[in-house]
Amino acid sequence: MKTKVLMVCLGNICRSPLAEGILTSKVDPAKVFVDSAGTAGYHVGNPPDERSIAVAKKYGLDISHQKCRRFSEIDFEAFDYIYAMDASNFSNIIKLARSKEQERKVKLLLDEVDVGLNEVPDPYYGGEDGFEKVFQMVDIACEAIAKKLM
Ligand code: 4NP
Repeated sequence: MKTKVLMVCLGNICRSPLAEGILTSKVDPAKVFVDSAGTAGYHVGNPPDERSIAVAKKYGLDISHQKCRRFSEIDFEAFDYIYAMDASNFSNIIKLARSKEQERKVKLLLDEVDVGLNEVPDPYYGGEDGFEKVFQMVDIACEAIAKKLM
């Protein structure tokens, strides 16, 4: 049985698509399945933001095939680990949990590492450098998660 990891942000077009692409690149696809979703439904069906696609491409990753979807209660059953990018995403996910077991699956992504921050900042309204920063911190967290899953 594969371990299933879900990355969650607000829109599922900036941060969690990067987290999905980065973690996917670090794990054995025969052992680990990685997906992403958003707590909001503004961009359902859309590809990731062009700035996320560009920063991923800069580091050799293609995330352009991903399609935005909304987080759903079914995800609590389908996934073993659910990583929220920030505290607002975290509380929106927890509100949908129906048991302590479901709540225990949800963690802040940056709780896996010590990068001086515990939230991945939302880069949507900022410039390209925000996407570079997001890539770097998500990369460090995904490295730690990949090691844990090996
Ligand atoms: P994300 O960024 O949560 O990292 O995908 C955002 C994307 C879209 C919006 C907000 C944040 N929006 O308001 O449309």
